[in-house]
Amino acid sequence: MSRSAWNWWNDIAHREGRLAATRQLFVALWEFIRDSTPERRRRRYGDAGFDWDHRVDTTSAAVDWRDRLLGAFHSPYQPTEADLFHEMLDALREKSQIDFHDFIFIDLGSGKGRTLLMASDYPFRRIVGVELLPALHRAAQENLEKYRSESQKCFAMEAICADATEFRFPVEPTVLYLFNPLLEAGLKKMIANLEESLRSHPRAVYVLYHNPLLDHVLGDSAALKTIGGTHQYAMYTSR
Ligand SMILES: C[S@@+](CC[C@H](N)C(=O)[O-])C[C@H]1O[C@@H](n2cnc3c(N)ncnc32)[C@H](O)[C@@H]1O
Repeated sequence: MSRSAWNWWNDIAHREGRLAATRQLFVALWEFIRDSTPERRRRRYGDAGFDWDHRVDTTSAAVDWRDRLLGAFHSPYQPTEADLFHEMLDALREKSQIDFHDFIFIDLGSGKGRTLLMASDYPFRRIVGVELLPALHRAAQENLEKYRSESQKCFAMEAICADATEFRFPVEPTVLYLFNPLLEAGLKKMIANLEESLRSHPRAVYVLYHNPLLDHVLGDSAALKTIGGTHQYAMYTSR
């Protein structure tokens, strides 16, 4: 925990100075305390509709306080809302005209694995999720085992517990999904890994970036070009 906080503080101090980093540390801790009230917890159950429908546990309300505190220094767990996920996938299919049979789906920062379950409604070749926090990863594994849906088209699903900034991309056509898993330094590192992978193995890679707070990082990449989106998400393709 203290190492995560230290790395987080250092990353901000490096870019914005020690005072700004310390101020942001207090803001993050204050936000964590506010988020721990029963009222806030009750509100977080607002994302549990998907779980009721599918008998799984992907809600952000049932996350241990230590993992929520760690989340404050990485990226807090929040599952993607189902309607928006399907809107994004449909928009990508329409825009790119790709056949998902040829693609693997990767979610970097997959949390409890809700996107992996939702992506299995599409005929991907396989589905991979990468999550840093072991407790969320274990929940994802249980969800993958439990999940049943009549609309499921892909059954090759895998959850990996690892750091997304160290992830080695499989050399296959890929739909890469990101819902703010990383801070700026980590996102730059991950995009540099993707660029290197595309240089050595040119192929079709599409990126769906949900809540694109750091879209300039992807926009600055010579390996990617934007193909559309809304205020809620951005879509990119490899050049
Ligand atoms: C906003 S949540 C998104 C969860 C999931 N992708 C979804 O859309 O339902 C971001 C996730 O990224 C994870 N994360 C943060 N840093 C990470 C890293 N370096 N490697 C892998 N996962 C990370 C967090 O633990 C959190 O579960």
